[in-house]
Amino acid sequence: MSELRYDGQTVVVTGAGGGLGKAYATFFGSRGANVVVNDLGGSFKGEGKSSKAADVVVDEIVKAGGKAVANYDNVLDGEAIIDTAIKAFGRIDILINNAGILRDVSFKNMSDQDWDLVLAVHVRGAYKCARAAWPHFRKQKYGRVISTASAAGLFGNFGQANYSAAKLALVGFTETLAKEGLKYDILCNTIAPIAASRMTETIMPPDVLKALQPSWVVPLVAVLTHKSNTETGAIYEVGGGHIAKIRWERSKGAIYRADSSLTPGAVLSKWNEVNDFSEPEYPTGPANFMELLEEAQKLPPNKPGENLDFKGKVVLI
Ligand code: NAI
Repeated sequence: MSELRYDGQTVVVTGAGGGLGKAYATFFGSRGANVVVNDLGGSFKGEGKSSKAADVVVDEIVKAGGKAVANYDNVLDGEAIIDTAIKAFGRIDILINNAGILRDVSFKNMSDQDWDLVLAVHVRGAYKCARAAWPHFRKQKYGRVISTASAAGLFGNFGQANYSAAKLALVGFTETLAKEGLKYDILCNTIAPIAASRMTETIMPPDVLKALQPSWVVPLVAVLTHKSNTETGAIYEVGGGHIAKIRWERSKGAIYRADSSLTPGAVLSKWNEVNDFSEPEYPTGPANFMELLEEAQKLPPNKPGENLDFKGKVVLI
């Protein structure tokens, strides 16, 4: 079987000066793609800037016989980054929204700046880059977008209210791009990676880090951004040699008659059914509200629930 190749295509990898981004960029460079290595070159907290991070990766790709140019703009200047691709290579085919920062702090101590900066880099940064690439994708009827979420976004994590909010925002963002892009063959997916990088080196022990090579995340990204891919709007967890798809699950739920008998007590009377996942469905869209409403109208008035008042007497609620 021949290897997946990207000859003639242009890939923009944001935050490609280190960690996962560098692993993507060098891979694409070795498989025939023109690579734009974007990196602002600041600290993992989003302070400072330097052209060195991107330059080192470009050098590595070029020395290995690949084609790459550096871009040092902040992802908030998405137009400038995509412009670098157009000027250097005349096109943009693949966008990897990877740049990111952390400002971990307990929610109690979180400042507006901690919140705003993290949201800006991850969410507005991904938006600005995708927005600038979009007209090119639509015109050429082809595009591949990867956005980088995180387990913190899907499940929450101590000290990461800002980062979690930003990361789950990217899931919704990408699901909408997937819907709008489909008819133009613009396929958009989200990954929630785990890998050793400067972001994780302070929070994980060395033996765990050793088992989490960034290069082990690359093959999934390669598959999702290849022209042969058909998957879109999906979320994949990836790292340490494990790849799994994540999806939404909806409980069967309860149907209530929508009238004045729909009291808080009536809600509680079927609370077990609302929370019961024994007969789940795996939705890709909202529940069919009109159909459910029609069914609900056939039901008798809801039964009120019971509760104990402060004197221990049963009351209807
Ligand atoms: P990293 O810190 O090595 O790489 C991030 C890169 O983005 C850095 O080179 C940095 O200079 C660059 N960057 C930061 N702000 C930028 C901006 N405004 N404009 C342009 N470049 C900017 O970290 P790592 O681990 O490689 O992270 C890559 C992505 O993966 C991030 O989005 C991160 O949130 C995400 N991620 C990583 C996980 C891990 O286990 N390493 C876990 C979950 C998500």
